[in-house]
Amino acid sequence: MSDSSSATERLLALLEHLGIGKAHVATQISGDIAGLAAEHAERLGGIVLCAPVRLDPAPFTSIAERVLMISGEYGPTFEVCLRAADRLAGAERYVLDSYEALGWSDVAADRNAEIAAALTGFLQHHGADAPPCSVAEGSHAGISYKVEGSGPALLLLPFFLAPSQWAPVVPQLAQHFTVVTLGGRHLGGIAALEDRASVPTYRAMFRTLIDLIAPQPGEAILDIGCGAGSLDRQLAQRLGSANPITAIDVNPFWLREAEALAIEDGVAGTIRFLPGNAEAVPFPDNSFDAVFSVTVLEECDADRAIAEMVRVARPGGRIGIVVRATDLPQWWNLDLPDSPEGRPIRRKVTPPPQSVGRQGGRRCEPLPPHEAGRPRRPHLLPDTRDARPPGRADLALPRGLRAVAARPGGAGGLAGGPQRGTAAGAPDDGAPAARGCRPHAEVVSSRP
Ligand SMILES: C[S@@+](CC[C@H](N)C(=O)[O-])C[C@H]1O[C@@H](n2cnc3c(N)ncnc32)[C@H](O)[C@@H]1O
Repeated sequence: MSDSSSATERLLALLEHLGIGKAHVATQISGDIAGLAAEHAERLGGIVLCAPVRLDPAPFTSIAERVLMISGEYGPTFEVCLRAADRLAGAERYVLDSYEALGWSDVAADRNAEIAAALTGFLQHHGADAPPCSVAEGSHAGISYKVEGSGPALLLLPFFLAPSQWAPVVPQLAQHFTVVTLGGRHLGGIAALEDRASVPTYRAMFRTLIDLIAPQPGEAILDIGCGAGSLDRQLAQRLGSANPITAIDVNPFWLREAEALAIEDGVAGTIRFLPGNAEAVPFPDNSFDAVFSVTVLEECDADRAIAEMVRVARPGGRIGIVVRATDLPQWWNLDLPDSPEGRPIRRKVTPPPQSVGRQGGRRCEPLPPHEAGRPRRPHLLPDTRDARPPGRADLALPRGLRAVAARPGGAGGLAGGPQRGTAAGAPDDGAPAARGCRPHAEVVSSRP
């Protein structure tokens, strides 16, 4: 299997490997099974889309009667499933009462009995093979798997950010199905973060962050909210073994996967992955020479996280933060005409991304009024005071930090994009058409 093999090719190879002709599947990320649904529907039994935050119904339209969509009662998953239902005639829906499922909600832990009952009830009306699986655990075609229980095959594909993933419902499901829990770098949220981290503009943005942090040989570095460890592996490859890297995350699933990927990439000796909360970092004061965090402060209390970053950095230590710049428009390389036909499309593509949690969002400053055609000032973080870096008059820095550098825009190749204090995490801007660009705000400071 080559590096560029698709999720569909990998899943088909895994089904062959496990001797499964036809399997039920459950996933949060519909894109992971879109290829199977569109081109190999005969390999699928019942299909459960559990709390999808995005859902393109197109690949499922011809097999809609095999689809169950589970959503919260309100919030993004409800909206997504409601919209998809319009195009999926015959699909069933199950709504989790009084529940808002967000991208990082731990749905299977929060509502385990209901989820297990909904899956079992729905899937028993559809057929799937009972596999002759003798192997309980392994990895094939880049996908890790664990087999439990007996009965028709049920593939559980990874959630995006859910800390417990499917674990809380596996015991109940394994009473009715041969449950095959899948993982690895090619599926789910891991694939999404790995893809994002591999994009040239995102790599450039991170490279810039590290250039500004400028770690000296031997200096200890802390990454807060490491996810799949994608950036830590890039850092370890760049610095060799000269700098010990500690990476923390609240999510045990991500930590396990991050560790496995670091081993796969041969950098496990340089990075230690540990459980830890950004709001209460589990290290004494003055422990690190450099501390950074990339797209994490949106998901927690940013004030507390920044205070913790300052506390664990030694005096003179550098602190680097990247957040999604929700007060900047997304940038697209569509060439849309400024005409009655083009204007409605322009309006649709300009809203900023909505991937910010309640706390993170609530604590951000309100958006400044949009100035047509000009980037808006990056209001980086809440409760800021003016501590302006020389020559960067309009970048506000968090309280308690002294600016040493702030990266001008375009660090990620954001041609024509925001110019101050921002960097781009985006698909390659050399891409031919219709590629989106989500701006990020990036700041590096040193602890006084
Ligand atoms: C969007 S991912 C970013 C991962 C990584 N920094 C990257 O850029 O690839 C956000 C990560 O922050 C973690 N996270 C969220 N809240 C956290 C907290 N309070 N403490 C530590 N990690 C947290 C999540 O578990 C997730 O792995």
